Amino acid sequence: MQKWIVSGIVTVACLFGIYLLVYDMPNKENAAVPSESVSIPDTPVDADAAMQIYRSNCLSCHGDQLSGGFGPNLTNVGATMDKETIYKQISQGGGGMPKFESKLTEDELITLTNWLAGKKGD
Ligand code: HEC
Repeated sequence: MQKWIVSGIVTVACLFGIYLLVYDMPNKENAAVPSESVSIPDTPVDADAAMQIYRSNCLSCHGDQLSGGFGPNLTNVGATMDKETIYKQISQGGGGMPKFESKLTEDELITLTNWLAGKKGD
């Protein structure tokens, strides 16, 4: 009689384990995949901080005054690219530009993004 109870419990435990494997695993995998769409928080832009980051990382290609050089002019970039695209370009690079995701902190990336998003050709 007791054997039946024990094997019943074991069976239920196994089914529960399988349930967890089947229903929980895909969620964990999804969580590990970096989401395609990033959303950039609207933090107030510290222009001085942004310019300092720009000077030491970007100026060599994008020029003094964002006027361009090896990289394109960025004085109007806020009007031609949305924040998500700007963020992606800075963090992932591409088209001859290096990626900065491991060179800058998340805060620095967001500061630069919000700063550039405000550049609408004035
Ligand atoms: C080694 C040179 C180089 C450096 C350093 C560099 N960039 Fe670029 N950047 C480029 C090039 C080249 C492109 C054009 C890429 C393309 O057309 O796909 C570009 C494109 C961009 C764009 C998109 C502009 C557009 O109109 O398409 C943004 C925004 C940008 N860079 C921001 C930055 C920021 C911010 C930094 C500093 C963290 C930086 N870049 C550092 C070379 C550079």
